[in-house]
Amino acid sequence: MDVGDAIRSRRTHKQYGAEPLGEDSLRDLIDLARYAPNHHLTQPWRFRALGPETRARIEGAAGAKEAMKLRRAPTLVLATTTLSGDPLTDEEDLHATAAAVYAVLLGATERGLASYWRTPACFGEPAVREVLGLGANERVVALIHLGPPVSDPPGRERLPLADVLTFLP
Ligand SMILES: Cc1cc2nc3c(=O)[nH]c(=O)nc-3n(C[C@H](O)[C@H](O)[C@H](O)COP(=O)(O)O)c2cc1C
Repeated sequence: MDVGDAIRSRRTHKQYGAEPLGEDSLRDLIDLARYAPNHHLTQPWRFRALGPETRARIEGAAGAKEAMKLRRAPTLVLATTTLSGDPLTDEEDLHATAAAVYAVLLGATERGLASYWRTPACFGEPAVREVLGLGANERVVALIHLGPPVSDPPGRERLPLADVLTFLP
């Protein structure tokens, strides 16, 4: 699969098979994030693969309804940015981390995995942040869901190219 095919065929998956990614596969996938473009190479992204104990504690802190949603994917990876406090750097670092997350989603697609970029509100709550060991200056960017696909979600309608691309003289 070439990059264009991965970009066009990636979908948000909300259902997954049961098999989690092995540690080697996960390392290979998250390694792609390190190559994202990043001004001044601050490399602000941090990834946490959530193990069973952590997941159980988060589910406990998040409440029953959210816990059900968190159980949808067999593999969850939290992506955060460490903020410096400088507004311009922070903006660029958030963009760079988003690019890093997208690299992971595209890599997952290329490997035949289902994925989903989710930003659950509960990851902003102190009890959940404490379980994850998030620093005060760490911003959650994505809870990346990964696993075997069990469906083929339809593509969501996009604006036509003519609406989003302008050639200036
Ligand atoms: C920054 C960001 C946050 C997102 N957070 C959520 C979320 O919390 N819940 C959700 O259902 N989808 C979330 N999504 C996924 C989008 O809803 C999804 O990408 C969009 O509907 C387009 O569908 P597609 O990914 O299949 O192309 C998020 C996507 C991005 C980029």
